[in-house]
Amino acid sequence: MEEQALHLLRAQTKDRKTGYMSIASGKGGVGKTIITINIGKIVSKNGNKVLIVDGDLGLSNVHIMLGITPSKNLYHYFMGEVSLEEVVVHIDEKLSFISSGSGVRELVNLPLSQLRNLIYRLQEYAEANYHWVIFDTPPGIHSDTLALVSSSQIPVIVTTPEPTAIADAYGLIKVLNQDEKIKEFYVLVNKVQNTEEGLKVFESIKVVCEKFTNAEVKYMGSIKYNPKIIRYIVNQNPFEEAFSRDLTQALLKLPLNIRYHGPSFWERLLSKLRRAG
Ligand SMILES: Nc1ncnc2c1ncn2[C@@H]1O[C@H](COP(=O)(O)OP(=O)(O)OP(=O)(O)O)[C@@H](O)[C@H]1O
Ligand SMILES: [Mg+2]
Repeated sequence: MEEQALHLLRAQTKDRKTGYMSIASGKGGVGKTIITINIGKIVSKNGNKVLIVDGDLGLSNVHIMLGITPSKNLYHYFMGEVSLEEVVVHIDEKLSFISSGSGVRELVNLPLSQLRNLIYRLQEYAEANYHWVIFDTPPGIHSDTLALVSSSQIPVIVTTPEPTAIADAYGLIKVLNQDEKIKEFYVLVNKVQNTEEGLKVFESIKVVCEKFTNAEVKYMGSIKYNPKIIRYIVNQNPFEEAFSRDLTQALLKLPLNIRYHGPSFWERLLSKLRRAG
C-alpha cells in the first residue's frame, strides 16, 4: 500500500501546471487545518514541492500548529510593502507556507490593473516553484471561501460524524454546486470510530446530493478519532503516524497526477472575487 501511495503521489512531469487544492468545511473544528498541514507533508515527501496558504483571512491556525510566526503576510505584499519572497516561510526544502492575513479580502478593493498585476505575479511564482498549492479555508460559506474553493481543481470537503457537521457539509456543497456550478467534490470524514462509520456518513451526504443537486460527491475515506492528537498539536508537531496513514490512503483517491487545462486558478479567482466584491 505504502509503495503504491509513494508512486501515485509522486510528481510526474517537470512541465505540468501547478495543481490547486482547497480544504473546506461547513462547520468549524472538523480538522481542516491539521489535515491541510498533513497533506502538505505527505504530498511534499513524495517528490512534490508544496505551498500551503491559509486562506483563513487571518484566522487560520496553520502557523500556530507549526510553531512559526510569519512577520509578514499576503496583505503586506498586496500593499506593496514587501516582496513575495519575503512572505514565504520555508518549513523544509519541499514544503512552504504563506499566511494570507486579510490579503484575499483586500484584493477586491484594489484597482483592476494593480490587482491583475499582483495576481499574475502570484501565478508566476506558484508555477515556477510548486507542484501543489493547498489552501486551508475558514468554515462556512463566506464569498471569499467560495471563490477559493470553486477556483481549485480539487475541492476537499471535510466533515465529522456529527449530524451538524454533516448538514453543514451538505450546505456548503449545495451552495458551491448551485451558485458556482462546481460538480465534483471529494469528501473526507474525520474523527470516525471505524471505517464503517466514515462510509455511512459519506452515503448520507451522497443521498441528499443526488436528490437535491447535480453534484458528484466522491469518497476519499476517513481518519480515525484519536485523543492523542491534541498532544501533538500542543507540542506544535502535528504529525501523528496513524493520522498520516489514514490520510495517505485517502489521498490515493484524488486525481493528483492529472494535468489541468483551461483558465488558471488565479484567473478564475480574480473574476470570482471581483464578482463577489
Ligand atoms: N482525527 C482526530 N482525532 C482527534 N482529534 C482531532 C482529529 N482531527 C482533529 N482533531 C482535533 O480537532 C480540533 C480542530 O482541528 P482543526 O483546528 O484542524 O480544525 P479546523 O477545521 O481547522 O477548525 P476551524 O474551523 O476552527 O478552522 C483540534 O483540537 C484537533 O486536536
Ligand atoms: Mg482551521
